[in-house]
Amino acid sequence: KQSAMTADDIRARKGNQPIVSLTAYTTPMARLMDRHCDFVLVGDSLGMVLHGLPSTLGVTMEMMILHGQAVSRGLDHAMLVIDMPFGSYEEGPQQAFRNAARLMAETGAAAVKLEGGVEMAETIRFLVARGIPVMAHVGLTPQSVNALGGYKVQGRDEQGALVLADAQAVADAGAFSVVLEKIPQRLADQITGEVSIPTIGIGASAGCDGQILVVDDMLGFFTAFKAKFVKRYADLGESAEAAIAEYAAEVRAREFPAAEHVFGDQTPK
Ligand code: KIV
Ligand code: NA
Repeated sequence: KQSAMTADDIRARKGNQPIVSLTAYTTPMARLMDRHCDFVLVGDSLGMVLHGLPSTLGVTMEMMILHGQAVSRGLDHAMLVIDMPFGSYEEGPQQAFRNAARLMAETGAAAVKLEGGVEMAETIRFLVARGIPVMAHVGLTPQSVNALGGYKVQGRDEQGALVLADAQAVADAGAFSVVLEKIPQRLADQITGEVSIPTIGIGASAGCDGQILVVDDMLGFFTAFKAKFVKRYADLGESAEAAIAEYAAEVRAREFPAAEHVFGDQTPK
């Protein structure tokens, strides 16, 4: 898809205007954010917020492609970035290229995102050299939840140097930006100051070069839990449930459908 925004445009924002992004999984939601976001991420968070999975580990290439195609149809302006799901890239550069190329070819995404730092640098370099813009993701990497022992803040104290090294490694490998998830503010500011590519914060710092949130979190559709870093800008889940309850009550009272919703013998169509 020829989007107005490109990986180069995102990269050029470093030190300039903040980069605005959200996740999306469907066409109508993508349409709502197309004019407001610089890039839209089809995140593998869709496994949890749309499909009720306990983590992102069960998300498949097929799920990513189906939602990627839907989001692509809703975007004209914002750049489309798509997550590589767990198991689709970790074996090595060739596996990663094959699956990244498939995600891009079948959805029209302009870039892929994958989780990992130092250990993924070789793969990132391989993809970038072959025409695939890569967004990296360091700090809390949810696909490693089992190894990390939960969704804890990463990079506290002496562990901060490891997250900085990860961010530096992905920048050196040619990633055009890097998501920093759930790390201390001070570390996020340090990384933003020291790496050459834009940092996209989620649970990081207002000093990052950009921000991202999961759209269902910020709109209040996903209420199973709320991370500290989520700001609820609306409570649409509550509004939706109230509407559903009202509908149910009206059907039971035979108040719906009303006169304006039914057809007389003469009403055309
Ligand atoms: O899957 C996702 O939604 C993400 C963002 C939170 C960065 O990876
Ligand atoms: Na993700």
